[in-house]
Amino acid sequence: MGKEDLYKLLLSKREEAMLGGGKEAIDKQHKEGKMTARERIEYLMDPGSFTEIDMFVTHRATGFGIEKRIGLGDGVVAGFGKVGGRPIFIAAQDFTFLGGSLGEKQAEKIVKTMRTALSVGAPMIFLNDSGGARIQEGVDSLKGYGDIFYMNVMSSGVIPQIAAIMGPCAGGAVYSPALMDFILMTQRTSYMFITGPRVVKAALGEEVDELSLGGAEVHSTKSGIASLVGKDDKETLDLIRRLLSYIPSNNTEEPPYVKTDDPVERADPELDSILPDDPDKPYDVKEVITRVVDAGSFFEIFPHWAQNAVVGFARLGGRVVGIIANQPNYMAGSLDIDSSDKIARFVRFLDSFNIPIITFVDVPGFMPGTAQEHGGIIRHGAKILFAYSEATVPKLTVILRKAYGGAYIAMSSRHLGADYVVSWPTAEIAVMGPAGAVEILYRKEISAITDPEERKKFVEKVTEEYKEKLATPYMAAARGYIDDVILPRETRNKLFKALEIISTKREIRIRTPPKKHANMPV
Ligand code: HXC
Repeated sequence: MGKEDLYKLLLSKREEAMLGGGKEAIDKQHKEGKMTARERIEYLMDPGSFTEIDMFVTHRATGFGIEKRIGLGDGVVAGFGKVGGRPIFIAAQDFTFLGGSLGEKQAEKIVKTMRTALSVGAPMIFLNDSGGARIQEGVDSLKGYGDIFYMNVMSSGVIPQIAAIMGPCAGGAVYSPALMDFILMTQRTSYMFITGPRVVKAALGEEVDELSLGGAEVHSTKSGIASLVGKDDKETLDLIRRLLSYIPSNNTEEPPYVKTDDPVERADPELDSILPDDPDKPYDVKEVITRVVDAGSFFEIFPHWAQNAVVGFARLGGRVVGIIANQPNYMAGSLDIDSSDKIARFVRFLDSFNIPIITFVDVPGFMPGTAQEHGGIIRHGAKILFAYSEATVPKLTVILRKAYGGAYIAMSSRHLGADYVVSWPTAEIAVMGPAGAVEILYRKEISAITDPEERKKFVEKVTEEYKEKLATPYMAAARGYIDDVILPRETRNKLFKALEIISTKREIRIRTPPKKHANMPV
């Protein structure tokens, strides 16, 4: 073949690769409201920045007719490029070719991309859209998944890993996303489950469809699997772009700074009246958060799951911070199993990637009751203590109102290594709330009073005494457990000034003997 013919051959091969599983399959994909793998990459990346690798990879499997189904790229588009001017690596499964199913060569492409991402120190994005392990390739396909899982674990805590589920993701295939930092899902067009509806019916007699079993709504409200949901492919990819704007490329970098027009000395008098007069009345802690951080910068993660805790990213004076808060508007802000998992996992992500943590505390305690105890609130709650204690990033804490008992300690208290702890004058820091405390302290006296009016008066008197002496911030301030009591309006500026100085914190744990790793409660 002459040079010209060789060039033509290359161009025709490229054209063939671009068609994935063919026009018919692409039309089907579009009809279902899904973009193709290449369209997704094109949309996500900065224009013209994508470099594809392994476009000509094909499988070498035989049997069950697969030897006749050879497709350039083998059902995944992989490579690197830029998002927001910063490098990322990506693998996008192409459902149009053999249902995006994963065999030996597809897996090798993905692992190669992951390995390069890890050595370069750039985030790995995985767009899932696949029928799972390629049945015809048997154990070679399982090996491929094993290799991917291993790379997920090797990359964890070194580079950010983000998975988007944009079609089926079933069986053991779910464990790659599960090992990554964030999972996003598309509404209606994606699902994730270990065993599909047919097996569920056969094994348990349960009738359930795909979306009710493992759709975006289920995973973003009930199971805590999906951090974010987009209404379609484009919105999901937009969310990935936004997420990336808050996180560094790897664990040796600082998160990206963005200059802000919002003055750091801005006082907010409205904050002074945000708490209801009755300490048992709820309010929306997100209003506190959005008033304190740079205008428009709060980006909530898991907005619909375990809503008694709020977690997300924000900026303060242009610097990225991780926000963690109790939400009095939901279950009075108490900590239960799911909110403990939500907080602990987010703290560990922030700590892995050098993102300072700001914690807003208003917590009546851990959730009581048999459901929580039998579900293991003890081991789940322990994760919060573990994660905060282990975290060495700057930790700033604002106690807004209630901070009772173990939950006070857990929510980034000074005792777990917080660097700057302040409270509003409304803070109540004590072993327990006034009602419970009085009942225990004065049980005998109360039951000895027979006249109900007298009894009520006595209870009111001792409750007031308790509130004044123990349920205030000043006992903690007197001990130096909190660094300051501040007016709500001063919160933004106080936090900014602390963050500015503490951001260069280096913590060397000389008291800890060398160890392989700690044993985190699960
Ligand atoms: C080989 C597969 C495949 C698979 C789909 N295809 N899944 N080929 N291995 N796992 C092929 C189909 O044969 C079809 O080929 C094409 O992809 C499109 O699939 P359709 O069924 O026509 O599409 P649709 O109707 O949209 O249904 C999609 C689907 C269904 C729901 C995903 O294909 C399905 O149920 N597939 C099997 C899912 C599954 O059980 N996978 C194994 C999970 S266990 P043609 O010839 O028409 O182009 C697993 C273990 C991982 O993954 C292990 C990790 C440890």
